[in-house]
Amino acid sequence: MKDQTHHDKPLLDVENLTVRFAVKRGGIFGKAKYLYAVDDISFQIKRGETLAIVGESGSGKTTAALAVARLVNAYKGRVDLDGTNFLALDDEALRQARAKMQFIFQDPYSSLNPRLRAEKIVREPLDNLEAGPEAERQGVVDRLFKAVGLHPEQQRLFPHQFSGGQRQRIGIARALATQPDLIICDEPVSALDVAVQAQILNLLRKLQADFGLTFLFISHDLGVVQHMCDSIAVMYMGKIVEHADRISLFNNPLHPYTKALLSAVPSVDKKRREQTKRILIPGDPPDPLALPEGCRFANRCPVAQDRCKAEQPALKQIAEGHKVACHLVDERAISPL
Ligand SMILES: Nc1ncnc2c1ncn2[C@@H]1O[C@H](COP(=O)(O)OP(=O)(O)OP(=O)(O)O)[C@@H](O)[C@H]1O
Ligand code: SF4
Ligand SMILES: [Mg+2]
Repeated sequence: MKDQTHHDKPLLDVENLTVRFAVKRGGIFGKAKYLYAVDDISFQIKRGETLAIVGESGSGKTTAALAVARLVNAYKGRVDLDGTNFLALDDEALRQARAKMQFIFQDPYSSLNPRLRAEKIVREPLDNLEAGPEAERQGVVDRLFKAVGLHPEQQRLFPHQFSGGQRQRIGIARALATQPDLIICDEPVSALDVAVQAQILNLLRKLQADFGLTFLFISHDLGVVQHMCDSIAVMYMGKIVEHADRISLFNNPLHPYTKALLSAVPSVDKKRREQTKRILIPGDPPDPLALPEGCRFANRCPVAQDRCKAEQPALKQIAEGHKVACHLVDERAISPL
């Protein structure tokens, strides 16, 4: 590993993050069991870059994002934001540090307070933090409305008077209000029409360039993230199964699950479209309360072997910037599928 100078130190450094929920099963006498929604994941994001976390429903993406932001409690692990252990902050320090890490939610219909005017929704984080002189906050709100492509007169309107895309713009303006370094976007476009999705993704990219933002971008859709990110972590049942820079992941996906996910993304490249066969993943993911001892993907993996059922594969470095958790992938970097 190369020596990390201060300059390329990551803005966000997440280590061994684990989140478990106590779940009651089997009637009133059933014992509580733990569901490990996020199971020992580690990743880093450099300042100004975007890491996408992808995976199908239930893989633990939202829980991981919420735990990074301390909106759910981590059971184990570290979250370092710009050198500060975010999970160890006391209430007041957390309130201040929150300004540096903001969240954009999936559903612009339910994430905005319906009783507040747009202006107040965007201004609220500033008021909560008592950021700057009160008289100057209106100026900040004006600039934010402009930055996200809304008109000044729309400040007086309530959320229900906006379209879905406009509502997400309000959510973005609100997230930007405290001048954060890191923005966590949890499926920010999946509730929107396809045409509107592209507008919001373009806006996010523009804001990233203008304000030097760092993004943690959650999506179940590899098609959405292929234009959005520098690197990608693929999650399956609480684990990261593959983690690589965008080019490596799209050009040489190694984990059978990643390969199957990617085969479902329509390629703009005609040659690649003809080369890739759609790989269907049979069966369902295992019960998260009764995870298998070996590879969590083994019951669906077309190339699973005896060893896969007995032993859980560790996430290991296969090539520069490319990590994979599969017994059948080695330094030759050839996918078994
Ligand atoms: N508060 C909770 N209590 C119990 N289990 C939970 C809780 N929140 C999430 N889970 C479980 O944790 C697992 C991961 O859920 P999570 O919402 O993080 O997945 P996701 O990848 O974001 O899925 P989706 O694509 O559907 O949003 C699931 O099995 C889910 O049922
Ligand atoms: S470890 Fe085995 S079961 Fe798991 S993805 Fe690799 S080949 Fe498939
Ligand atoms: Mg989710």
